[in-house]
Amino acid sequence: MAPDDGRLHEFRPEPRALPHFFVWTLGCQMNRSDSEEMAGRLLQAGAAEAPTMDDADLVVINTCAIRELAETKVIGRQGHLQRMKDANPSMRVVLTGCAVRERDRDGLERRYPAVDLFLRPDEEPELLDRLGLASAQAPVGVIGATTVVGRTVVGVADHLAMTRAAAVAAGSVRRSSSVSAWLPIIYGCDKTCTYCIVPFSRGPERSRPFDEIVDEARAISAQGFREVTLLGQNVNSYGHDLAADTRFGHIRTERWAGRRLDLGSKPDLAELIRAIDGIRTADGAPAIPRLRFITSHPWDLSDRLIEAMAECPSLCESLHLPVQSGDDDVLRRMGRQYSTEHYLERLESIRAAVPDITVSTDVIVGFCGETEAQFERTLAFLETVGYDQVFSAAYSERPGTPATHLADDVPTAEKRRRLNTLLAMQEPIGLERNRAWLGREVEVLVDLVTRKRSHEHDEPSVAGEGSGPDAGGEGSGPHGVRTGPGQVALSGRTRGNKLVHLAGDADWVGSLVTVRIEHAGPYALRGTPVG
Ligand code: SAH
Ligand code: SF4
Ligand code: F3S
Repeated sequence: MAPDDGRLHEFRPEPRALPHFFVWTLGCQMNRSDSEEMAGRLLQAGAAEAPTMDDADLVVINTCAIRELAETKVIGRQGHLQRMKDANPSMRVVLTGCAVRERDRDGLERRYPAVDLFLRPDEEPELLDRLGLASAQAPVGVIGATTVVGRTVVGVADHLAMTRAAAVAAGSVRRSSSVSAWLPIIYGCDKTCTYCIVPFSRGPERSRPFDEIVDEARAISAQGFREVTLLGQNVNSYGHDLAADTRFGHIRTERWAGRRLDLGSKPDLAELIRAIDGIRTADGAPAIPRLRFITSHPWDLSDRLIEAMAECPSLCESLHLPVQSGDDDVLRRMGRQYSTEHYLERLESIRAAVPDITVSTDVIVGFCGETEAQFERTLAFLETVGYDQVFSAAYSERPGTPATHLADDVPTAEKRRRLNTLLAMQEPIGLERNRAWLGREVEVLVDLVTRKRSHEHDEPSVAGEGSGPDAGGEGSGPHGVRTGPGQVALSGRTRGNKLVHLAGDADWVGSLVTVRIEHAGPYALRGTPVG
């Protein structure tokens, strides 16, 4: 609105020069969830999201440091970012996530020369304040919560739970899907895996208060999400750091191999799952039909959790249980605190309690001192378990982790060979696990249109060009999906987290559809909707 009196001009507030931002997210689900929170804060401050990094004048890079490659990917973009900054002097670059560790602050500027502001993961809620974008009315974030744990400086960030709850209450989490939502329940990691940078990047475990998580789940269900995934580096330790509460008086300490976790009268993951599963619609069905959690450390996977998995209808029949190695000596050197025997016992209990459960895992090959015989024991272990999916990686030495004191003595070429051997061995196992679903009817949560409408065709047609690894069948298109008139190629997940391709209506996205499985590849299924 133009002021009538020209003299009032100078009193008209300047349009705030708010940036167009782009968040580049690497790494795991926790990072994706953190990015949703940061994007939400920026949007709420009035900034607009740029469609690509090149259109942005504020680039937020949410880094991963799990392997060297994850860091070099971002280091490799510094030249490009610097050129963007040279062309646009008002452009700013923020780097956050697991690559920002207090102990190598100095090294950061050298490695990431295009970056203006570094934020540790626990400093992310300060983003607006540190950029000078917080409005006068906005609550100021907690600044400078740096704490020393042992010899390591980390942000203990007790405020993360608080800032998350505030963001949820303000509706400022920009969820990237309208079907599935991430729900962080515990930050940091107390485990002692010698190869892993996460405890150094994310600090010790801090559980979010029980009621705040249930409140967020309730808000998520009210917003119509069909699926919630509880997030934490190790969700099984949820609650051990919270205060005892008479409401949880029935919970007793369980002891698993090694260190004792004091869970007496404290909420645990099982209790949390039961509470979220207990949010019901008027007709008594779980308000969130699908509940998942990642990641579980095998060491503290309790009987209480297995019982909750068996009894809660919303909890999906799928478990990601990283084993890392099938050799006990290697597991010991990795500091994993369990043996293969303990792992197999846990798995047996779960499989007995939850029939049809799908199981996936993580494996590291070529860890310090891993012999050929030890690697072969891992292969044999994968065969014994029969995983639905295996995520494998070559060991990558991470600065400052305990394993730097061991020799990284498996040559790179040998690590690569072991990785390829493992992949080649797992593929037929995955295929066999998928074939077990042939002819069965499964519930699929449709979450993606994989091809545009084919309404121009009056006759049923084979969908588009290109093909994924699972394209099979008779000379078919992407994933072998045949679309009828007005149909599109869709994909979704079973409760067991298996990828399913199907043809149907574009507005099925977000719906639960019953599908008869007609084709199984090693990495995905294909089927036809029924009913
Ligand atoms: N908290 C999760 C894992 C997070 S990291 C858990 O314990 O399951 C995800 C995976 O990355 C790990 O399971 C491990 O297989 C792999 N990983 C971690 N550090 C690694 C390293 N230094 N080199 C190679 N792979 C690594
Ligand atoms: Fe890393 Fe181990 Fe913690 Fe997982 S449990 S984040 S592998 S230290
Ligand atoms: Fe990477 Fe950090 Fe996740 S190191 S895997 S982004 S916790």
